[in-house]
Amino acid sequence: MAVQSDNSTEKPLENLSNHTGEGVVVDIGTGDGRFVYRSAQSNPRKFYIGIDANAKPLEKISMKATRKPSKGGLPNVLFAQAAIEDLPAELNAAADEIHIHFPWGSLLRAVALGDENALRSLRRIAAPECLLEIIIGIDEERDRTEIERLDLPKLSEEYLQKTLIPKYEAAGFETLKSGVLSSVEWSRLETSWARKLQSGANRKVIYLAFQAG
Ligand SMILES: C[S@@+](CC[C@H](N)C(=O)[O-])C[C@H]1O[C@@H](n2cnc3c(N)ncnc32)[C@H](O)[C@@H]1O
Repeated sequence: MAVQSDNSTEKPLENLSNHTGEGVVVDIGTGDGRFVYRSAQSNPRKFYIGIDANAKPLEKISMKATRKPSKGGLPNVLFAQAAIEDLPAELNAAADEIHIHFPWGSLLRAVALGDENALRSLRRIAAPECLLEIIIGIDEERDRTEIERLDLPKLSEEYLQKTLIPKYEAAGFETLKSGVLSSVEWSRLETSWARKLQSGANRKVIYLAFQAG
């Protein structure tokens, strides 16, 4: 059990992501939409919105989701192109859960540095008591070029506790959990990048969970 925090439980991911049972779930940096599609199949009472700055990976899954149910269509799914820095006003106070899994590029920079504009954007779309779940995977060797390009600090426990988490709290999110996921825990995640990255034994996967206050 690698997630460290107050009140840690045996299955942090499952417990937290089932916390609403219904409502609107927004996945930012959704990529090919696997998490959204699979979750929407399993939770028909929730409505899933997959958002990505890049429209290309959304095309295939958007087409699939709008087919007839017998051909893989799902009535509780929507995909939209948008960046975290500029989320659509239609989402204001709408999200009961926000997920950001394996961010990269400007999305990684925004969540790992606690960019004020991005956090304001997240808080704006959060409904009261919205769960915000962020999963960051970094391999300091393999990802060195991107880490340097984005000018990211080392995501140490001290950095998380003293610098990053206070920024989320200042933006209106209370901390529920934070820590490092074991490879068994993060390989269970239904995202394409969780699957792609499974071979990297040196990847550190950080889990942050907040609740909108
Ligand atoms: C490594 S992929 C992860 C995709 C998916 N969450 C997964 O786990 O399979 C990161 C995604 O973040 C998106 N992204 C990068 N910058 C973004 C931004 N500023 N706002 C929204 N999405 C962004 C990229 O287009 C890419 O699809």
